[in-house]
Amino acid sequence: MTRSEEPLLARPTSPNSSVDNIDEEDALLTGQSIHHPPSKFARWREIGVFVWALLATVAVVILAVVYQHETSIQQRRTGGWGPDGNPTGKRNMIFMVSDGMGPTSLAMTRNFRQHTSGLPIDDILVLDRHLIGSSRTRSTSSLITDSAAGATAFSCGFKSYNGAISVLPDHTPCGSVLEAAKKAGYMTGLVVTTRITDATPACFAAHANRREYEDLIAEQMIGHYPLGRVVDIMIGGGRCHFLPNTTEGSCRADSTDVVALAQEKYGFHYVDNKADFDNLEAEGGVKLPLLALLASTDIPYEIDRVHVSDIYPSESEMAEVALKALSAATKDSDKGFFLMIEGSRIDHAGHGNDPAAQVHEVMAHDKAFAAVLKFLEKDTTEGILVSTSDHETGGLAAARQLHQTYPMYRWYPGVLANASHSAEWMSSAWGEYLHSSPDRSREDKSAKLSELLKSGLGIVDYTQDEIDAIIDAKPIWPPSYLFADMISRRAQIGWSTHGHSAVDVNIYASSPDHAPGLVGNHENSEVGEFIAEYLDLDLGAVTEELKAKGVKTSSSTSTSSSGSSTNQDQDWGEWMGPPGLPVNENGPLVHLDEYHGDFKHRKREAESSLDCGCGLKH
Ligand SMILES: *[C@@H]1O[C@H](CO)[C@@H](O)[C@H](O)[C@H]1NC(C)=O
Ligand SMILES: *[C@@H]1O[C@H](CO)[C@@H](O)[C@H](O)[C@H]1NC(C)=O
Ligand SMILES: [Zn+2]
Ligand SMILES: [Zn+2]
Repeated sequence: MTRSEEPLLARPTSPNSSVDNIDEEDALLTGQSIHHPPSKFARWREIGVFVWALLATVAVVILAVVYQHETSIQQRRTGGWGPDGNPTGKRNMIFMVSDGMGPTSLAMTRNFRQHTSGLPIDDILVLDRHLIGSSRTRSTSSLITDSAAGATAFSCGFKSYNGAISVLPDHTPCGSVLEAAKKAGYMTGLVVTTRITDATPACFAAHANRREYEDLIAEQMIGHYPLGRVVDIMIGGGRCHFLPNTTEGSCRADSTDVVALAQEKYGFHYVDNKADFDNLEAEGGVKLPLLALLASTDIPYEIDRVHVSDIYPSESEMAEVALKALSAATKDSDKGFFLMIEGSRIDHAGHGNDPAAQVHEVMAHDKAFAAVLKFLEKDTTEGILVSTSDHETGGLAAARQLHQTYPMYRWYPGVLANASHSAEWMSSAWGEYLHSSPDRSREDKSAKLSELLKSGLGIVDYTQDEIDAIIDAKPIWPPSYLFADMISRRAQIGWSTHGHSAVDVNIYASSPDHAPGLVGNHENSEVGEFIAEYLDLDLGAVTEELKAKGVKTSSSTSTSSSGSSTNQDQDWGEWMGPPGLPVNENGPLVHLDEYHGDFKHRKREAESSLDCGCGLKH
């Protein structure tokens, strides 16, 4: 049998196929008609086929229209921007801050993940796929900003001096995007992994001349200031600033019970542990306003938290609870919500020069970023996500020259992969060991350290010099720095400072179309301007109200409201305040480090009998 003898389409005969319709199909395909005398049956059949074809065509058209409509709903997700380029309709904004995350943090984390998970060279973070620009971060008082001036640029859209909590260089308050959003009818939230009174979250709902006034900031954040309550949901750490000084676990200088004030005067629901936090959902959903203070100070680094995940939630867990609660609470409103989520401790890992802790912080933030994207895709309300850093921390380099000979082009992620704890945790464990019995022999200490180094950092090639340095460490250069340095050297990761640096940081968004004003290179204050533009906020009106009502921006009783600044306020040319300022507990020892608690802890430990300088405890 030759090819030409086969029907055009070779197909098996079946009970449903007749010679007739095979002929018809061939005729259609070849364009040559075949003639069969029409029969009565064939006529009815033709009518039947016609009706069937008509119905099928109608069905296809309907399906196509429905499908078109569905896709256009998908495509019409503009993030809340109207055709004229102005924001329109009900919309949500999620603003994420990756505190202290510079461009090298991304490269290091990407390399680390590829290495540890055996992923290909083109495997990147979710953040990487959403890069839209970069931000210039200098403040008015320094080429290197701190988090307070950085967050003031985000919250008010103005640059200010290092240490400023939403006040301008003349110490007058500036209205924040969160305050203005609340006034405009949006619901609002703050989620952080550090103290909720720390500089970044503080700038959205408080005003203070100095970031150290965390007791004052705690009061303002629950609504105890002229504007009343402006935050609907707060989740993070920093409980100690809300408890009266008569209570165990307080770090307040006075006896004000801020938790009781929040509950009784401002109607907050309060939870202080993860079990109760997890139960909120079971008990009929999160009720707002909610104050969830889930750690005394910081939530542990992600690398340590995974070992105690029954006690502390992750950044994405907290973010998801806030998103769900705010979405539900604005369900029947014509206004959406504003939520700030901070990966706070990327910065702390930078201050500690701890690359192992940092890669896990960045991955946790990336995961939270992905969770927000997923929320935006599913939620019926339009919304956008913008994420950026306030500055870089550590002067991180994914390279380090350890010898005089020309450097090898290598860094070793495997060293970071071997660590199961942060240098901070190591230092705590070491401190506990020393305190548990003060009279250990040097041999016992060495043995303990070698055990800790193996189990906590996966370092087995330690030298006796390294062990001795830790045993003899002084608070000014504490064990946590030495542990971190052991990892960094072995990984060939470099650091230029225990403070911040001036490098530009990245800006990310759910889509470049969602944040057209932030595409390219910008001043950090433009980020604040953009948030105000997107939510269509009147920051000036809030500023005027704060000034008229006289918000208290200093915890010093001799200083009156900023509405009528005293001479003392105006004399503050420098952000550190005048020499010998009584509220400055570190006196002349002020360094940038103190602003993240690290220096304070070291100093406290140096002064107390615990002379180990073991750093922060959770
Ligand atoms: C607690 O705060 C009160 C002021 O509210 C102060 O008088 C007292 O000295 C403080 N106590 C301690 C132990 O700091
Ligand atoms: C990781 O730890 C193991 C021992 O647990 C050690 O043999 C190995 O050399 C370490 N790897 C690196 C890259 O440090
Ligand atoms: Zn910062
Ligand atoms: Zn910092």
